[in-house]
Amino acid sequence: MRFDIFTLFPEMFAGAFDSSMLKRARAARGLEIFLHDIRAATTDKHHVTDDTPYAGGGGMIMKPEPIFAAVESVLEIRSWKLDAGNASIQPPNSIVQPLTPIILLSPQGRLFNSTIARELARADRLALICGHYEGVDERVRAHLATDEISIGDYVLTGGEIPAMVIVDAVARFIPGVLGNPDAPHSDSHARGLLKGPQYTRPADFRGWQVPEILLSGNHAQINAWRRREALRRTFESRPELLRAVALSDEEKEFLRALGWQE
Ligand SMILES: C[S@@+](CC[C@H](N)C(=O)[O-])C[C@H]1O[C@@H](n2cnc3c(N)ncnc32)[C@H](O)[C@@H]1O
Repeated sequence: MRFDIFTLFPEMFAGAFDSSMLKRARAARGLEIFLHDIRAATTDKHHVTDDTPYAGGGGMIMKPEPIFAAVESVLEIRSWKLDAGNASIQPPNSIVQPLTPIILLSPQGRLFNSTIARELARADRLALICGHYEGVDERVRAHLATDEISIGDYVLTGGEIPAMVIVDAVARFIPGVLGNPDAPHSDSHARGLLKGPQYTRPADFRGWQVPEILLSGNHAQINAWRRREALRRTFESRPELLRAVALSDEEKEFLRALGWQE
């Protein structure tokens, strides 16, 4: 899978993509990440990428021309140009619909989650546009981006960290990226629940014992315990998630005993 990331600050990505799992995934060629400096697509002498907002309001807005130029040249898409002599020709969506999803990172987008990560992982290629400063000229959102994603209801200084979050979360669903292929399907949120407690050696740390069932070797009982603890953890931390989970009568009984109200 290939990611094309459009940013004014490509240097921000160095550490995130050059260590741990993502480094391994890139080396194994399951994951390709291309960073594109939006400034390189400017055509003016001073390489200007931002300007003051029309009608005031403070801050700087990223200009549309270099963003369109960078994305269109990398993805090889062309803009519709209105025929000045024929007002009846309307651009359908301003650009020929590209095959590659073009995601604008924005605190106003749809809220990123595990389901969206899995959905995005089905694409062969994704383009991510990182805003900065006070944001991005609206025409990028309206006529270039095909999707708009937020990583949470808060505002960051730029789209670079959100882009890293999305690449990381999506990459976990690419076969071969994780050592444990089951992980993305059993981790928190994969099936609507949070994962229950996890332990490693030693069995006794400062008198805090690992639950005996985990040392028993009885896999059926261990799986049943894990499911129960996942239900308990979800009820305690994020009870609203339980509304979307298919629960057996026995599981409902277990949760009611904890104080859950359907
Ligand atoms: C300071 S923010 C701009 C916020 C904008 N003025 C607003 O009120 O919606 C600058 C850039 O950071 C990125 N950004 C900030 N918060 C984000 C979030 N929660 N999710 C995704 N991108 C975000 C976007 O690319 C945005 O264009």
